[in-house]
Amino acid sequence: MIQNKIYTVIGHKGHGKTTLTEKLAILTDKPTIIADPRFQYKPNDRRIFFKNPNEFIYFINNNYLTFKRAKLELVVNCNLDNFEDLGKYVYKMKNVCFVIDEIDMFFDTRSTPKNIVNQLVQYGRHSQIDLITTSRRPANISRNLTALTDIFLFSRLREPNDKKYIKDSIGQEYVKTVENLDKFSFLQVDIEEEETKIIKTTERDLKILS
Ligand SMILES: Nc1ncnc2c1ncn2[C@@H]1O[C@H](COP(=O)(O)OP(=O)(O)OP(=O)(O)O)[C@@H](O)[C@H]1O
Ligand SMILES: [Mg+2]
Repeated sequence: MIQNKIYTVIGHKGHGKTTLTEKLAILTDKPTIIADPRFQYKPNDRRIFFKNPNEFIYFINNNYLTFKRAKLELVVNCNLDNFEDLGKYVYKMKNVCFVIDEIDMFFDTRSTPKNIVNQLVQYGRHSQIDLITTSRRPANISRNLTALTDIFLFSRLREPNDKKYIKDSIGQEYVKTVENLDKFSFLQVDIEEEETKIIKTTERDLKILS
């Protein structure tokens, strides 16, 4: 039985990664927490914004049922010093979606197994925690995340190191496809189903998301 999904979004600056995570988060149909280190998420009527993990924790301790029932999106600004507080709190939750924008700020090839993101990647399935992460550079992404990713979403990548990552993670046959993607298009690779397709976010999505 599938208990959670890990989505890994990879692509260059400005190709629509953050926007795609907004769409994916809605599709999980779970209440959502968004780690937003660079203020990339804009206000809408599903969202509440927090300046740091402590503010978020205070809110959730007092409004847990509202968060669950209304399927809110709680957007938490965080940095290297306080991200762990957020991650540890989410790790104790059940049946939520956790979006980590720009994940390589908090978890990369040099991170130890104790890193909270690694714990979420390895054990989040027991609590049905879906994970959606974005990164600009495949070379920075931990193998521990790659190995347990259920669905990859690549936007156009052309540098030799990036192409090598595509080849090593999903196969040489996808390198050309990823090299030629249009802006706001992604190659979606579902590892378990062995299914690949090109998906796009559209102007209509932007309207729904706003
Ligand atoms: N499908 C789309 N059609 C038109 N505009 C879009 C679409 N998707 C995203 N945009 C716009 O393009 C800009 C970049 O999108 P977004 O912030 O999602 O990219 P990103 O890959 O996260 O960028 P960065 O690497 O800077 O974080 C934003 O202004 C966004 O509103
Ligand atoms: Mg972004």
